[in-house]
Amino acid sequence: LLAATPYATLPSVLLVGPSGAGKTALLTLFERGPLSKQEDYESSTEAEKSPSPIIDGSPASALLTHTSQTPAAVELAISDDRSSSFRDEVDTSSGSNARKFLLVDTPGHAKLRRYALSHLTGTASLKSPSTASASFPDSAPKKTKLKAVVFVVDAGALLSDSEALPSAAEYLYDVLLSLQKRMAGGKGSKAPASIPVLVAANKQDLFTAVPAALVKSNLEAELGRIRKTRSRGLLDSGVGADDDVSAREDGDDWLGEYGSEKFSFNQLMEFDIEVDVVGGNVVGDGPGADKWWKWIAERV
Ligand code: GTP
Ligand code: MG
Repeated sequence: LLAATPYATLPSVLLVGPSGAGKTALLTLFERGPLSKQEDYESSTEAEKSPSPIIDGSPASALLTHTSQTPAAVELAISDDRSSSFRDEVDTSSGSNARKFLLVDTPGHAKLRRYALSHLTGTASLKSPSTASASFPDSAPKKTKLKAVVFVVDAGALLSDSEALPSAAEYLYDVLLSLQKRMAGGKGSKAPASIPVLVAANKQDLFTAVPAALVKSNLEAELGRIRKTRSRGLLDSGVGADDDVSAREDGDDWLGEYGSEKFSFNQLMEFDIEVDVVGGNVVGDGPGADKWWKWIAERV
């Protein structure tokens, strides 16, 4: 009986972040292992290709050539003791205790971010509205439980491209605020399960790359600026600064510790949201993606 509903509560991890950050590249790496293994992959038979992409039957690398326009997901697995690497073939046959989970890729383009944000607030199934049948041919939406969010950011461009930091922080603000509202809005005494966030400071192979600690401090400073700007917007709209009730309502859109001068990721612990910033890279020489995989493995 249990075997009949293997997907009933498949945990999922959501990949978000600006366009070009490397989300689809990361998904492809986790799906197929490092480049050296890809020749094996190409020559293997259809049945040996595991885990197989759930999206429209084509390998995820086909999505790499251009910007993603729709969400896509692959099924991955971690060994029972959570120690397996993404390079390992994990035995997922019935009887094995491997942990399967869905890694969900989303488009980073500003106009397509609602896909990702609707996942965070729980209003989306894994079926995308416009391409449902193409993405998930077996029509029934797969039920999943969102376990973690990975926000991928291009650490190579963060400080060398003047638009990169403000636009990445703008998106991250919306992601974190959605999660904060989700926690604050929990009904009754039972708080919803917390969803931790990994900020993956990608492209550490590039000489322009900013190390994780600097990615963290720059994002925190920029999130603080955004918070200030957005709250000023509320004040300008006629809400009295010394009107306590209104101020508290404004607080709904305030990220982190209410009224604090500086923003830090630690302030989200108040809402039981853990944020980690970890450097890595998908291609080239560098620390690689193992730390990200391990972070995910501990949370699915
Ligand atoms: P959208 O689909 O538009 O949201 O972008 P994305 O986040 O999916 O980016 P994608 O994975 O398509 O990667 C964008 C470009 O960055 C590709 O050319 C990748 O090869 C490249 N890239 C990804 N990761 C790395 C990395 O670690 N280092 C370097 N140097 N390039 C990378
Ligand atoms: Mg993509």
